[in-house]
Amino acid sequence: MKALILSGGKGTRLRPLTYTGAKQLVPVANKPILWYGIEGIVAAGITDIGIIISPETGGEVRSRTGDGDRFGAKITYILQEEPAGLAHAVKVARSFLEDSPFVMYLGDNLIENDLRPFLESFKQKHLDSLILLRQVPNPSAFGVAIADKSGRVLQLIEKPKEPPSNLALVGVYFFDRSIHQAIDEILPSARGELEITDAIQHLINTEKMVESRTLEGWWLDTGKKDDLLSANQIVLDNQIRPLMLGTSDDRSQVIGRVQVGKGTTIINSSIRGPVVIGENCYLKNCFIGPYSSIGNNVNIVEAELEHSVVLEGATIDNIQQRIVDSLVGRRAVLGTSPKRPKAVRFMVGDDCQIELV
Ligand code: TTP
Repeated sequence: MKALILSGGKGTRLRPLTYTGAKQLVPVANKPILWYGIEGIVAAGITDIGIIISPETGGEVRSRTGDGDRFGAKITYILQEEPAGLAHAVKVARSFLEDSPFVMYLGDNLIENDLRPFLESFKQKHLDSLILLRQVPNPSAFGVAIADKSGRVLQLIEKPKEPPSNLALVGVYFFDRSIHQAIDEILPSARGELEITDAIQHLINTEKMVESRTLEGWWLDTGKKDDLLSANQIVLDNQIRPLMLGTSDDRSQVIGRVQVGKGTTIINSSIRGPVVIGENCYLKNCFIGPYSSIGNNVNIVEAELEHSVVLEGATIDNIQQRIVDSLVGRRAVLGTSPKRPKAVRFMVGDDCQIELV
């Protein structure tokens, strides 16, 4: 059994962060999203992992993630020259996958469930494909499946206007080698991509065994800001244990589940967990509220922040209003001049969103 993680793509919905970096490396609770997927796959006993990368961000994915040693896995990087679809990525990976069955995992997805029971079902029943579904409130935004009571999939419909069910396709799929022939026989969709849903539909149409299982735990597709903040909230809630490797003075209050990295200094501030703060940060006269993740080398002075993600090297200095539901990019600087506190002055990159609420 092998694994194929898709970490290419354009990431247009997470611009401007994806102009300068891979969306799969954006951190959730200070760990790249991609790494949660790798850990889940290794926990299911699969250690031969291929990662699809793009020419733009592949170098960064590769250098941050490495050859797999840190995960107890062997990672092979596979370059996809252009983001021509999820099924195209499988085609590009053909020589890595050979005829092995594999799990395909979208590198910006996070799921709570253990993969092992699904893998067991897939293997035991000798399925051609096992797909995972999750109930969602807005099925029109997803690929939707119709399955019978036993879980056999009858039809997949991409972004239906009138959804026949509220079961959306989660970005984790199990495939046998029959998927390769199906991919060879489908044509690009109206948006010009080779769609994995078309390939799975082709399996169904040719009487192959395609079953589904419904996820009970959470599933997050972190491709957009609000989804990323939700992922951050859920992971902080579930995984953060108190740990103080930095220093805080006696005027500071660190309450609840707060993790602080080494070299971080907290002065006259209040931190209310669940919060994770990276290494070598400097926090003075500030309030950091629940569900915040602060990356390494961040400076926050005279500011209040909650339910936000601040990436490495950012500076927040003297902001009068509370910062909420925000995603602050690497090395970004947010500040107010003490001389003109009511004026705002911006240097804002392409596709940024600033809301003064
Ligand atoms: P998407 O989120 O569907 O596509 P995208 O990354 O291009 O994002 P956006 O819609 O915001 O422009 O892709 C799901 C995952 O699959 C994501 O981790 C990127 C990856 N991917 C590839 O590796 N190759 C591809 O050809 C495509 C389409 C996606």
